[in-house]
Amino acid sequence: MAAWYDQAIIYQVYPKSFKDSNGDGIGDLTGITEKLDYFTQLGVNTLWLNPIFRSPQVDNGYDVSDFYAIDPQLGTLADFKALIEAAHRRGLRIVLDMVLNHTSDQHPWFQGALQGPKNPYYNYYIWAHGADGQLPNNWGSFFGGSVWTQHPTVADRYYFHLFERRMPDLNWRNPQVRQEMTKVANYWADLGIDGLRLDAFIHLAKADLHQNYPSDGADLVVAEGMFANLPAVQPYLAEFVAGVKANHPDLFILGEAASATVNLAADYTRPAANMADAVISFRYFPTKPRAKRDAVPADYQPQRLDWLAFRQVMTDWQQTLLPPRRLTLYWGNHDMARVATRMGSHRYPQQSAKSLATLMYLQRGLPVLYYGDELGLSNGTLASLAAFGDPTVTAFANAAKAAGWSSERILENVNATHKLTARAPLPWSDDIGHGFSKVAPWLAVSQDGTPVSKQMADPDSVWHHYQQLFALKQTPLFTRGNWQLQNWAPWLYAYTRTLGVETALVVVNISDTRHTVTVPRAWAQAPVQQLTVGTVHQTAAELTLSPWSSAVLTIKKGSK
Ligand code: NOJ
Ligand code: CA
Repeated sequence: MAAWYDQAIIYQVYPKSFKDSNGDGIGDLTGITEKLDYFTQLGVNTLWLNPIFRSPQVDNGYDVSDFYAIDPQLGTLADFKALIEAAHRRGLRIVLDMVLNHTSDQHPWFQGALQGPKNPYYNYYIWAHGADGQLPNNWGSFFGGSVWTQHPTVADRYYFHLFERRMPDLNWRNPQVRQEMTKVANYWADLGIDGLRLDAFIHLAKADLHQNYPSDGADLVVAEGMFANLPAVQPYLAEFVAGVKANHPDLFILGEAASATVNLAADYTRPAANMADAVISFRYFPTKPRAKRDAVPADYQPQRLDWLAFRQVMTDWQQTLLPPRRLTLYWGNHDMARVATRMGSHRYPQQSAKSLATLMYLQRGLPVLYYGDELGLSNGTLASLAAFGDPTVTAFANAAKAAGWSSERILENVNATHKLTARAPLPWSDDIGHGFSKVAPWLAVSQDGTPVSKQMADPDSVWHHYQQLFALKQTPLFTRGNWQLQNWAPWLYAYTRTLGVETALVVVNISDTRHTVTVPRAWAQAPVQQLTVGTVHQTAAELTLSPWSSAVLTIKKGSK
């Protein structure tokens, strides 16, 4: 049976950077409410908000200290209820980010746990002994350093954190933890939200803690095999989802499955298994292999997409996640550099922004758009490495310096690749503070890019392209039609969508050069051309595409 989210076009709102309503430089819930018409004008129908729960903001809200309270920087519960009500009035759905894997170290549970094994919350977290000042194992954290941090007063006792040390992991082996998290989800679902984006759910299960991971001689290694996608994740997820869907069967469960392969994604979205309705995997973007002798680590050097491998990835996902399974379509999010910076053309920024959007979102799947990408924004810049406040940046800079890189080059590379410079306040207008806030914003990222007001007034803008694209996406052919790659030339990304007698061909020139390709006759003569970017010229047997151009050609069976 079709669910409402089969039609979802999801806009990811980074609340702190979207719109400041009360002049403190931080985007907030009322700011989102004030801008609800913006979403309907653009043509999206679902908002995913990054975490809004009370948090010390060590990781911008992913470190939750109270799952039942709105963070005061973002507003109040009354503001949130007003947002839901106003959103629903406009037919907009709200998806909240639910952090299942960890809490803040300031959460009362963790504060209790620190009291020692007799405290009822001790077993809410993961503890190990590290005899003689040795860490319990060699597993490295995603945020740099070990996954282990010593108890503040008890020597040899360590707690586990996959992310920042102030974000201790919850112990999902403990049934009480599982019940508590289900309770949290039901609380928000009872308030009327429409879905949950499950943060880092693939990490809920951990392997036996008393083993090292093969490390190639390094002291610490990010031990994915020990804490990602273990089999026990699935029953945990199923129990949680069943516990919420029992009361809220229409709740949309969007899982963040960063390192999930397509087969795992198929497992997590098994129909009727009560797990995820769709997942977001970071495996969509294979990059070209690096030069073997590069002494500088890859993390903050721009990597080029391997288009050949990308075609294969898209094909695998399209062919494996067949209906009733769903897939998500996205180019970016708050954890990566912006698509314009990673993928866009320096010579053709406008065309590439538009054509990349067409390429991705007209495929079969649920579009997820990262705020600001509808303007073609690129990563902003921070003025110094210190401004990133990120130990992994320091480590990178040290290695790059040792390899002879200049400070300017290091900063430029970090600005172009870091997640923080992709989180700049949204430029609404050319007014003071870009119409985002009257005061200096919480994040000192400077960002150039044409603001919303100008783009909405310009029919040729990236924004208008998105508007037309989403209107087309809502038609049955592009929501339900099947997908087939057309592998005609390396510079061309082309696919067809078919539903009944109708077929559309989407063609995108992914290069800075004009090209011609020979195509099956029907396509060269296809009568209708829509959503054209640049020029796509049709002759009897060929298509000629200007640099970074794209178009949708539609034929009905029976027409020539
Ligand atoms: C994934 C989120 O997308 C990321 O921003 C966050 O830092 C980690 N999970 C930890 O919650
Ligand atoms: Ca504010």
